[in-house]
Amino acid sequence: MPLRRLDICNVRNLSNVRFEPSPQVNLLSGVNGSGKTSVLEAIHLLSVGRSFRSHKHKTYIQNETNECVVFAQVENPQTDTLLSIGLKRLRDGEIDARIQGNKIQSLVELTDVFPVQLINPDAFRLLEGAPKTRRQFLDWGVFHHNPDFINAWRGWHKALKQRNTLLRRGKISIDLLAAFDQELIRLGSIVNQCRHEYLARLLPVFNTVLARLNSGLEVTLQLYQGWDSQKSFAEAVIASQSRDIESGYSHTGPQRADLKVKTAMGDALDTLSRGQQKLVVSALKIAQGQLLVDSGKPLLFLVDDLPAELDKEHRAKLCQLLETLNSQIFITSVGSEMMDYRWSETTDVRHFSMTNGELSHD
Ligand SMILES: Nc1ncnc2c1ncn2[C@@H]1O[C@H](COP(=O)(O)OP(=O)(O)O)[C@@H](O)[C@H]1O
Ligand SMILES: [Mg+2]
Repeated sequence: MPLRRLDICNVRNLSNVRFEPSPQVNLLSGVNGSGKTSVLEAIHLLSVGRSFRSHKHKTYIQNETNECVVFAQVENPQTDTLLSIGLKRLRDGEIDARIQGNKIQSLVELTDVFPVQLINPDAFRLLEGAPKTRRQFLDWGVFHHNPDFINAWRGWHKALKQRNTLLRRGKISIDLLAAFDQELIRLGSIVNQCRHEYLARLLPVFNTVLARLNSGLEVTLQLYQGWDSQKSFAEAVIASQSRDIESGYSHTGPQRADLKVKTAMGDALDTLSRGQQKLVVSALKIAQGQLLVDSGKPLLFLVDDLPAELDKEHRAKLCQLLETLNSQIFITSVGSEMMDYRWSETTDVRHFSMTNGELSHD
């Protein structure tokens, strides 16, 4: 679902940026601080309702203004019409997100019509950050892949929160807890099953992408499901009940899951160079994007600061892969580095320059 028109108002130094991107490749260049990352930040904001740079909304709303707005028209391939989507964030925290002018109940609806993948210099965090980062990565793919996932996830999460509240209060019997645990087990097992199924699909695509990036790396992905892999979730919950009552929280379950990224020598984080880690993370994200595109869904790829930590050969490989992915791409770069790569003549490539928060089509 390519983005056909984008209006950004009061996001950082972008007071009023309006442009029509290419449905394929968009290259944004400009000096540091000109506002390139802010353009990607605005697109990301529209897709997921939050920035990738900061959790504090006040940091991205332009100083001395009360609200920021991002508005876009995206293609709706099913009906061949344009869909208007918009998000307004007020300084007091309120969010007003709309599709076709109608206020939406949950930001998930935006993510569903307008999925984005981001590769940026912080991408390493996927390997070095807490398990939550990798769970979110995995769940993004599961969510887009399996329509049953979101309801199971929400139900399980609610049951988990209720269980933890109960445990914190203390003085609870195993029998009472067991009664509560039925729903938790039922929904948590679905969440777990969806994650396993998705990872099984992601794995071969990831291996192919990693090879195509000429990384020369052998990397395995394993799902630690949050408890002993030999046990069902029901068995794990039952085995953990007395311990949970004693310590006042839930020890096992999908909330403890992690995606283990390993080489033959150990954790990818401890055994690979920064540049290699960046390739692995890029391969993970491209593989996830590839699966989405293959399932007929649209995807928008944001690549911030392409040259950072990648050599010329690998930059070119990355561009080549992105080009064949058949999704809309936005790439930022300070200088001419990204011109190293020769895009195919049939690809619609648009160059934009950023200067002091103003964007112009070259
Ligand atoms: N809340 C804000 N209000 C106004 N300007 C901001 C705000 N936050 C950051 N900026 C400025 O906006 C610019 C953002 O630049 P950025 O998008 O990071 O540029 P680039 O990616 O091109 O280096 C910087 O010049 C920064 O000083
Ligand atoms: Mg930047």
